[in-house]
Amino acid sequence: MKKIFDYKTEWSGLKNRMAQMFNSKSGRTVLLAVDHGYFQGAPAGLEDLRKTIEPLLPFCDAVSPTIGGLKSSFNPWVKTPIILRATGGNSMRKPAELDDEIVTVSVQEMVNLNAIGFTTSCYIGLPHQTDTIANLTTLTDEAHRYGLISIGITAVGSDPVLGKFVKGEREDGGELTAEDKKDALKYLKHACRVVSENGADIVKTYYCDGFEEVVEACLAPIVIAGGTKRPTKEALEFTYNAVKAGAIGVDMGRNIFQNENPVAMIQAVRAVVHDNMTAAQALDLYNSLKGKK
Ligand code: R5P
Repeated sequence: MKKIFDYKTEWSGLKNRMAQMFNSKSGRTVLLAVDHGYFQGAPAGLEDLRKTIEPLLPFCDAVSPTIGGLKSSFNPWVKTPIILRATGGNSMRKPAELDDEIVTVSVQEMVNLNAIGFTTSCYIGLPHQTDTIANLTTLTDEAHRYGLISIGITAVGSDPVLGKFVKGEREDGGELTAEDKKDALKYLKHACRVVSENGADIVKTYYCDGFEEVVEACLAPIVIAGGTKRPTKEALEFTYNAVKAGAIGVDMGRNIFQNENPVAMIQAVRAVVHDNMTAAQALDLYNSLKGKK
């Protein structure tokens, strides 16, 4: 595992902001992603953003909304560190253009809103690859002047071939073949390396079989996104496998807030990330917590 606390020991704003979002004991993080509305509109589970986040905030180490989500639905007194979604300009209404993103939040605005960092999507292998890498490099360059954390995401837009790697299933819902899995590993290794070479402090990507190789290839620590909502057991299994392979946590959305019991789910994910619980132990925990207030 590439540890976040391997950073050099002298004081820096960047390091201190990392300390705010990483658990000092486990060295890992549970970052809650609630930024999906920037291109999905109001996806299931986020229709009422305030209602969704309030019970989950006590269990995450940081939260990642859009600027609109933050200003409209967060209590200004919240102590949870904020990682702002900093790019957008796309929408599901134009699925073919999902990889065409612009910077939507200035670094000055991030500082003003007291965000500790930002996320930006890099669409490796897609038509707007260069522009989205430029979004990462430009934002990182400026954000680092103020010690803000840069998180680069390996995103795939609506590309059907790449989409199947992040969903973990074929377009028709069937299981990935051995060949698909090999391609997914090859793609994610490449994409993570490219994003890290371009200066992201943390890379956010999707789990795949052979994930150790993705971690090894990437120059920066990795957190995993959850992707499309999966059954609880499966989501806990890939979380466990990712952490075991060296991921330093999750930046997860739908598999938490779309779960039938979001508060139980985030605690189960937390137990895997911070307490080294196995997927089976975390599922037991989930079952014991579900339905409880
Ligand atoms: C894209 O919608 C955003 O970057 C999400 O924050 C990211 O995909 C993580 O959310 P999920 O776990 O739902 O994939």
